Amino acid sequence: MPHATPRGLGRLAFGGDYNPEQWPEEVWREDIALMRQAGVNLVSLGIFSWARLEPRPGAFDFGWLDRVIELLHAAEIRIDLATPTVVPPAWFYREHPEALPVSRDGTRWAFGSRGAICHSSPAYREAITGIVTALGERYGRHPALAMWHVHNEYGVPVLECYCDVSAAHFRRWLAERYGSLDALNEAWGTAFWGQGYGDWEEIQPPRLTPTVANPAQRLDFARFASDSALANFRHERELLRELSPGTPVTTNFMVSPTQCDSMDYWAWGREVDLVTNDHYLVAEEDRNHINLAMAADLSRSVGGGRPWLLLEHSTSGVNWQRRGIAKRPGEMARNSLAHVARGSEGALFFQWRASRAGAEKFHSAMVPHAGTDSRIWREVVQLGSDLGRLAEIRGSETVADAAVVWDWQSWWAQKLEWRPSEDLDTRERAEAFYAALYDRHLTVDFVPPEDGALDGGALDRYPLVVVPALYLASARAGERLRRYVEGGGTLLVSYFSGIVDEHDAVHPGPHPGALRGVLGLTVEEFQPLHAGRAVRLTGSEGVPDLSADTWAETVVTRGAEPVWRYADGPAAGGPAVTRHRLGEGTAWYVSARLGRDDLDAVLALALADARLPDRDELPRDLEVVRRRGGSGAVYLFAINHNDAEVTMPLPGAGVELLTGADVAGKLGVPGGGVRVVRLAG
Ligand code: GLA
Repeated sequence: MPHATPRGLGRLAFGGDYNPEQWPEEVWREDIALMRQAGVNLVSLGIFSWARLEPRPGAFDFGWLDRVIELLHAAEIRIDLATPTVVPPAWFYREHPEALPVSRDGTRWAFGSRGAICHSSPAYREAITGIVTALGERYGRHPALAMWHVHNEYGVPVLECYCDVSAAHFRRWLAERYGSLDALNEAWGTAFWGQGYGDWEEIQPPRLTPTVANPAQRLDFARFASDSALANFRHERELLRELSPGTPVTTNFMVSPTQCDSMDYWAWGREVDLVTNDHYLVAEEDRNHINLAMAADLSRSVGGGRPWLLLEHSTSGVNWQRRGIAKRPGEMARNSLAHVARGSEGALFFQWRASRAGAEKFHSAMVPHAGTDSRIWREVVQLGSDLGRLAEIRGSETVADAAVVWDWQSWWAQKLEWRPSEDLDTRERAEAFYAALYDRHLTVDFVPPEDGALDGGALDRYPLVVVPALYLASARAGERLRRYVEGGGTLLVSYFSGIVDEHDAVHPGPHPGALRGVLGLTVEEFQPLHAGRAVRLTGSEGVPDLSADTWAETVVTRGAEPVWRYADGPAAGGPAVTRHRLGEGTAWYVSARLGRDDLDAVLALALADARLPDRDELPRDLEVVRRRGGSGAVYLFAINHNDAEVTMPLPGAGVELLTGADVAGKLGVPGGGVRVVRLAG
């Protein structure tokens, strides 16, 4: 399990991607002086430097990197040294054009940007072995080395490769998974549309087909792609562990479902010594701090709840978004400290100095094109100093109130074609339920559907477990949820969950196969709604009327009681939202797509069952999160996303760490500002 921290920092980490090879050496000295001014103590170095480090095959040039590292070392700035394996040099592709990945429609991508990698390529494996070994031998024991940054953002911009080499690798992967062709034919349901295989060599990746390809084959290919990249990560990690004993090895994730959809981060989280994540604010979205909070909670969760590290975010606008909306004054600090509140041991950026050339020259940076006489630079310096004041929170852990079940594999399966409605959207439901919990000021841990995947995977420590969209759920996952409820938990499940098994085959019997027992109902018929049409839900006395769109169901209760019924639409008169008392606990089911406010009405009842605190004394968009230290110290973060000052009640007294002020009974948080209180006792 991930548990390491970058070596030798002594404070929260602050810094960013440093790409000195883009600049003449005289700029480096200014860089270092500015880094010291801003309180930078960690930089990610060499991410895209392979062509500079190995300009000809086997001929290395480390001189420039030696000089940069010595300058950083002398300035006491630690190094997160990258292996540059996300962009092999042009000479590599000239020798091995077959290592360029192939898209589903058979197009081979070209060299000239980045991340053009076939993770099944033996030539790529051999080449990365060379450069990683050389780097490990040269710098593996350097005193400035804080950790290793393997590759960069596996999974983006492309992960899957459909070339012939990948096809052969896929067949080996399948043979290991299924053992026999009979088992594979059964798992893939190849009796449908006459797809039975009589020889392993007949199996191909799910390349472009005239109509919908076998969904089980596609799901396995997605798993295979994530596994193949993971095998290359493990290979690099093992080389580095050998040559650089004791130095943490990581790779930067993009756990936000808005940013990367191809990696099974539950599997990846177990393999890194420290979870690191990159997050880019969805600049144009309203209340985008909620998406940020979700990404931060996911980052912590894939590491089993341990502190993690935000390795990249932006000081302001981002070039690859449709509009590079600049951050408002104070927004960068709020973003950084929201990540810290949710478990990050610091805040780093892409990138240190804005590039003059290349595809990302209009991406914001710590040193912007405007130079140091700029708002961004002043805020960077301020943030460095604020993080300095928070050194004592290192190692403390974020306290969660509830759990949300999330699964990348289920998402991959649900997204495939020809589901009962093209409006079904796992990500949208996860975000909607997350936002409802956020608006109730509840901090969330994400959990995988099956236990055993992570340390401390027991659900019973959470009074509430929410399942926003779990189309694919194994019988084991269903059992786990049933035991959780029987033991006294409160479960809240949304529609189209528990429908198929791990092979994307419908569970035997009525829907929702894996969850029928725990929910105390069956779904007789799906009732997807016409685009733009809504249905009304009316409830027993004391509950408000609700409205739903996109999705409804004909639900038959078998132990559960209806709390809301459909008032109109295709399921009129039938149960819409139900409650099932089972053992010591309660399981709620929401069979329709409720908007965020209507969702809150159901959540309120589930929270009451779970006896979770009603935090309605806290203003909307005041983000309140706690971290608890080993010594029992509690740090309360209050991040005000409103323009106006707000006040919140404070449980007791404490010291506000950013201002040094004593506080008691209540806490004022300036508009757009952040307060961090070490609570007494
Ligand atoms: C990613 C990459 C960086 C850079 C940023 C820009 O996170 O890792 O190299 O391209 O995006 O936002």
